[in-house]
Amino acid sequence: MPKTELKEYIVMRNREIENIRDLDVYLANGGYEMAKKALTSMTPAAIIDEVKKSGLRGRGGAGFPTGVKWSFVPKELNPKYLVVNADESEPGTFNNHEIIDENPHQLLEGIVISAFAIGANVAYIYIRGEFAYGARFLEQKIAEARERGLIGKNLFGTGYDVEIYVHRGAGAYICGEETALLESLEGKIGQPRLKPPFPAVAGLYAKPTVVNNVETLTNVPRIIEKGADWFRSFGTEKSPGTKAVSISGHVKNPGNYEIPLGITIREFIFDWAGGMRDPNLPLKFIIPGGASSNWLTEQHLDLPMTWDDMAAAGTMLGSGAMVVLDTSVPVVRAALKVDEFFKHESCGKCSPCREGTHFLVKVWERIDEGHGRVGDIELLADVGKQMLGKCFCPLGDSSVSAVNSAIKFFRPELDAAIDAQH
Ligand SMILES: Cc1cc2nc3c(=O)[nH]c(=O)nc-3n(C[C@H](O)[C@H](O)[C@H](O)COP(=O)(O)O)c2cc1C
Ligand code: SF4
Repeated sequence: MPKTELKEYIVMRNREIENIRDLDVYLANGGYEMAKKALTSMTPAAIIDEVKKSGLRGRGGAGFPTGVKWSFVPKELNPKYLVVNADESEPGTFNNHEIIDENPHQLLEGIVISAFAIGANVAYIYIRGEFAYGARFLEQKIAEARERGLIGKNLFGTGYDVEIYVHRGAGAYICGEETALLESLEGKIGQPRLKPPFPAVAGLYAKPTVVNNVETLTNVPRIIEKGADWFRSFGTEKSPGTKAVSISGHVKNPGNYEIPLGITIREFIFDWAGGMRDPNLPLKFIIPGGASSNWLTEQHLDLPMTWDDMAAAGTMLGSGAMVVLDTSVPVVRAALKVDEFFKHESCGKCSPCREGTHFLVKVWERIDEGHGRVGDIELLADVGKQMLGKCFCPLGDSSVSAVNSAIKFFRPELDAAIDAQH
């Protein structure tokens, strides 16, 4: 039983209400009442203000305040778009999938309210290509809601129209990055754009666009229902609310959890996820926020899971994807696997990332295969230095996190891996 109880689910209400994925069940539990309330009795400015007051921060990785992002959209420029980031390709992240599969109408209701708030009449859900079931399922749910007049024209007799379209990506991790996503949505190759201009001003088809994560928008109906103060009663001052977190690796109970923000990593791993799988194999390291994040070790177990605490420790909460590894894992192999992913997913636009990820993998590979050379660790560090801060988008920097983390915490193991080969 978890020590810190969650008072109530915000985004994973399927855990409390059976079959909430069915429209009738969702409606019987107050579903779409908040869209009605927002559209019929609130102004867009009042909705943005409530979301600002709630302190909701984007759940897609960066933790940027959602209401503030919405307020950057210029009122005078039309049309505007809402784009829902359902790409979820970070290794270890699978919490958006649960929301889509099990609580889809709360996401759709969040989209209706948010689109109204920013003045958009069209919303696109960009979903990763491999998630074929999720795409078909969402289309079916949109059709159900449209039949009942909850999505489409003249909603609740207000004259406000919103259409929601599902767009399947072709399965590229970079298309989760908001500007590459927009390029892909426009039918171009999915490569990031230079910022500024930011999407809020010039996004999809160069029009004002808000890109928000699935979980972020799923919070919105409940903020409208219960208010900013209620939302702030979860989590911490600067990281209010809950976070859907996926945990995998060597824990007893891997899976998705909705946690109040601010519990410690120790509580999460040991009280929520049941602790280490094999009592004879203790924790070795943690990749706390997806493959892009810098690693942590046992000394960080008391770190609170908030954006700011994780950033202060040199890592990130990211999209909520914790991978816990025990002492059976060789560090070289783990770093190789992480960097193979980034090499594979590098979009090729800029040379520090395109070439750098290739070199990192080449060096990790030869150490892993027993052909490591004296000086290889220094070489890895040097390649990382040439990449960090010099790549066009955060993907390139992400590939350096495994290098720097391995060197920072496991230098003797890396040296021994090379020494053993001579
Ligand atoms: C390489 C890369 C991959 C990303 N993948 C995702 C993703 O799969 N889903 C997501 O919501 N955000 C992803 N992001 C973050 C988005 O660029 C963007 O910040 C987010 O969708 C904004 O939504 P939010 O404000 O609701 O968090 C990614 C960023 C980078 C750099
Ligand atoms: S850093 Fe990598 S993914 Fe980003 S633009 Fe450059 S090549 Fe593409």
